[in-house]
Amino acid sequence: MTPGKGAKNLTAPPIPRNAEGKPRNRRRPGAGWRSEACMEPLDVVVYPDPVLRRGGKQVTTFDQALRDLAARMFEAMYAEGGVGLAAPQVAIEQKLLVLNPTGSRDDRTGELTLVNPRITRKKGRAFGEEGCLSFPGIHADVERWVDITVTYQDLDGKEQTLQATDWLSRIIQHELDHLDGVLFVDRLTPADKLRVRSKLDELQERHARR
Ligand code: CO
Repeated sequence: MTPGKGAKNLTAPPIPRNAEGKPRNRRRPGAGWRSEACMEPLDVVVYPDPVLRRGGKQVTTFDQALRDLAARMFEAMYAEGGVGLAAPQVAIEQKLLVLNPTGSRDDRTGELTLVNPRITRKKGRAFGEEGCLSFPGIHADVERWVDITVTYQDLDGKEQTLQATDWLSRIIQHELDHLDGVLFVDRLTPADKLRVRSKLDELQERHARR
């Protein structure tokens, strides 16, 4: 997910670059398990790529490969200026999502990795503006639950429970939808669906021309 257009203090800072203009966060080969190949940011899939509709399967193996995938998803999320990213958005059909409500790689205290998440309690409804890394240039209000309780597994496979409200709750619901193949444009009001129609057509044409 990306913050709405109105959000100012949530935008990610520019990517630090070295003298050759390459992002500084790319690791060099030989720098331990975080080799360059392993940390190369993943490409984010853009609508209407069909993988976005397939959602994710339950994760059953909690190993280094899963940790590497989560680390690469964080890198892709920061590189694109997002606050959340779900595995199907990088063409991986697994129930895995990463998020950081600040969207800033310099403030990682709020980073969360949720595996096999599900909402076990929900309360209150509110509209708020959302964008999505798979829908560049489109922002719209979406109605979500205000308070949620989420049960999930961490990267070690340990069962965890999290209470979330407002912004964090919204990010989790947006990303959780991706794991079910649901996209934020599915949840727009009829008026907003009409408003974004031409932008969606544009993305479809761009996809067809690839
Ligand atoms: Co999204």
